[in-house]
Amino acid sequence: MTTALTHAVLPESDIPTHWYNIVPDLPTAPPPPLHPGTKQPLQAEDLTPLFPMALIEQEVSTERWIEIPGPVRDLLRLWRPSPLSRARRLEEAIGTTARIYYKYEGASPVGSHKTNSAVAQAYANAQAGIKKLSTETGAGQWGSALAFATQAFGMECEVFQVRSTYDSKPYRHVLMETFGATVHSSPSELTNAGRALRERFPDTPGSLGMAISEAVEVAAMSDDTNYSLGSVLNHVLLHQTVIGLEALKQHAMFGEQAPDHLFACAGGGSNLGGIAIPYVRENLEGRASTHIVACEPKAAPSLTQGEYRYDFGDTSGMTPLLKMYTLGADFVPDPVHAGGLRYHGMAPLISHLYSEQLIDAVAIGQLEAFDAGVLFARAEGIVPASESNHAIAGALREARKATEEGTSPVILIGVSGSGQLDLPAYQEFLAGRMADS
Ligand SMILES: Cc1ncc(COP(=O)(O)O)c(C=O)c1O
Repeated sequence: MTTALTHAVLPESDIPTHWYNIVPDLPTAPPPPLHPGTKQPLQAEDLTPLFPMALIEQEVSTERWIEIPGPVRDLLRLWRPSPLSRARRLEEAIGTTARIYYKYEGASPVGSHKTNSAVAQAYANAQAGIKKLSTETGAGQWGSALAFATQAFGMECEVFQVRSTYDSKPYRHVLMETFGATVHSSPSELTNAGRALRERFPDTPGSLGMAISEAVEVAAMSDDTNYSLGSVLNHVLLHQTVIGLEALKQHAMFGEQAPDHLFACAGGGSNLGGIAIPYVRENLEGRASTHIVACEPKAAPSLTQGEYRYDFGDTSGMTPLLKMYTLGADFVPDPVHAGGLRYHGMAPLISHLYSEQLIDAVAIGQLEAFDAGVLFARAEGIVPASESNHAIAGALREARKATEEGTSPVILIGVSGSGQLDLPAYQEFLAGRMADS
């Protein structure tokens, strides 16, 4: 039985006190990252030039629950708990028999889930005495989140933004600069990696893999600078589990059991991991049988078309080797508008869940994604991020199928961000000028 509730709003006291680490609960251990030189499992000290020990410990932890430090929780209070809403008007708009819910992360200070990990990473680095963080950004959401978080802890931030979105989303770098960050279009002339990539790929639209190479190089060259990654690694997925932990409670407020289907977009995998990993635990422990679907872009379909093997996390081969579904480290995706999904690989933890058939995946084209995003915006009054549109499109496929079959499943969508700064993409779509991918 459902109630007439539309938004399930939790009190601040329900912000999770601990992140959930699924590693100890998995039936098989995920393959470890390898040192690119020795090809042996990576040791903690291999990562110290880039990350503080607190994050390295989280990266390799086998503890089920990891306490969220007080100062991080204090910042999370600015936007958490995020709402979980019943998309009644969307249900009506498509005339579905399904019950559709969405967890909206776009109300965070910079407009996406990325802030959940940015504040945790900035805090751990500040505690270790680090003065500056360097990073990559695809859509500009991660860069904005880290720019906000670093200044909150008195640090500097240098961001390499993928060229295609630097040009197509000009307000994103203004947002980062507003928070005090320095932003470069990547590949740039400022790093050895950037110069080599510009020579190898003239006129490239750039990619997350390239921007990572540049940001890693900047951190490796300086003792007081660390590197910060917006996705892919275990500790980033860990920080995002606050999303799913809250959603579990909010679903109960609606009088619902766990959802039958969960759709979340996946670039490097942190948003998907954040909302889905607590539900994977529910499934493993027999409390639910939620069908979890990673929605990736057709332009970078790492799970549905990639190979499961060790590969570099960046284009220049500077990172450890990660066992993941990959399209190849030098694969440059078409410059689709969902810049945050243009990544050649997928988080090792998400790759492991996929290879163990604990989650499913689907590839969605850009036109179908924006069609779904516009429908969602008109019904719910929220313009979703280009990335989030992929999850909405996946959910709409399922809702329409349910209507045809006369079933009424519960569908949960992870709406990872706001699309207010993606309006040039919406403009292109509405004018009929957007190419499919
Ligand atoms: C709004 C939004 N959703 C999703 C993503 C994809 O990243 P991830 O797979 O790490 O969640 C991004 C990346 O920039 C993003 O900005």
